[in-house]
Amino acid sequence: MLKQIEKHILKIEKYKADSIESIEHFRIEYLGKKGVLNDLFLAFKNIPSEEKKEFGQALNKLKIKAQEKVEILQKHFTEKKSLKNREIDLTMSAEPLPLGSRHPLSIVKNDIIEIFSRLGFTISEGPEIEDDWHNFSALNLPEEHPARDMQDTFFIQRNPDTLLRTHTSSVQVRFMENNKAPIRTISPGRVFRNEAISARAHCIFHQIEGLYIDENVSFADLKQTLLHFAQEFFGEETKIRLRPSYFPFTEPSAEVDISCNICKGKGCNICKYSGWVEILGCGMVDPNVLDNCGIDSKKYSGFAFGMGIERITMLKYQVKDLRLFFENDIRFLEQFKHA
Ligand code: PHE
Repeated sequence: MLKQIEKHILKIEKYKADSIESIEHFRIEYLGKKGVLNDLFLAFKNIPSEEKKEFGQALNKLKIKAQEKVEILQKHFTEKKSLKNREIDLTMSAEPLPLGSRHPLSIVKNDIIEIFSRLGFTISEGPEIEDDWHNFSALNLPEEHPARDMQDTFFIQRNPDTLLRTHTSSVQVRFMENNKAPIRTISPGRVFRNEAISARAHCIFHQIEGLYIDENVSFADLKQTLLHFAQEFFGEETKIRLRPSYFPFTEPSAEVDISCNICKGKGCNICKYSGWVEILGCGMVDPNVLDNCGIDSKKYSGFAFGMGIERITMLKYQVKDLRLFFENDIRFLEQFKHA
């Protein structure tokens, strides 16, 4: 009988289960009511008492072995099962991340930059808090000059010499001071004017100004550059028209209209039935400005132009209220996802 028990122990040690069901079979075979152990315990009663000690010990060993084996196997299988449940499905598509959209002003700014970069213009930037010299005086606008009133300025009270720049022409002054001619640069940036906020005006807006200085630069170069820009940006069929104007830093100066890109010149409420809409101001850089910035006005000439990015964006995308650009209403911004 002891031999029988030894055999069972060996069998238990070697046993390998391939499923939860086979573990259950194994458990019933050994530990069930009609199982091997019960049979042996019944036989144990009839064993002569001098053999009982040895036999009892062997029997207990067998019981513990069987119980341990069942426990280990069960644990092994349940762990495997839960691991299986946790398996990652690599074929599953990723959860779509809601993508934001670029701000329309950034889209238009980048488009304009791209057009002028192809013509060899570099990008220059400067501070939004400026001094009087770079925003006004260097640009042929000495103190008390009446044209200063053209741009209502935010002054910084603690230091009357500092102000929020009213145009990015200040960047061009800095560029001329720090670089030698020839110069070809555009300056995008935020500007500030003390104006009442309405559908057509804001106290903060964005400009891109351009500056081209070299020997023998003429008004014809200016006109051709602007025509190229207008056709690249608004479409090949676009025409431009120059009207005489006044800026203290350019002479002669002009304002540029494009043929209305909405009604194609037929007349609509955007162009106020004239067929033309204004897009920018420009002119030949006043020799005084060149000299102020350390460029020899006898040798060099140049042109400059400046446009409001909000205005160009409103025309391109038919936005009727300028305030929309600053409200950051997602319903408005999302419409430019594919622009
Ligand atoms: N600086 C002018 C403005 O802000 C625009 C401009 C730039 C006009 C360059 C002419 C030449 O209104």
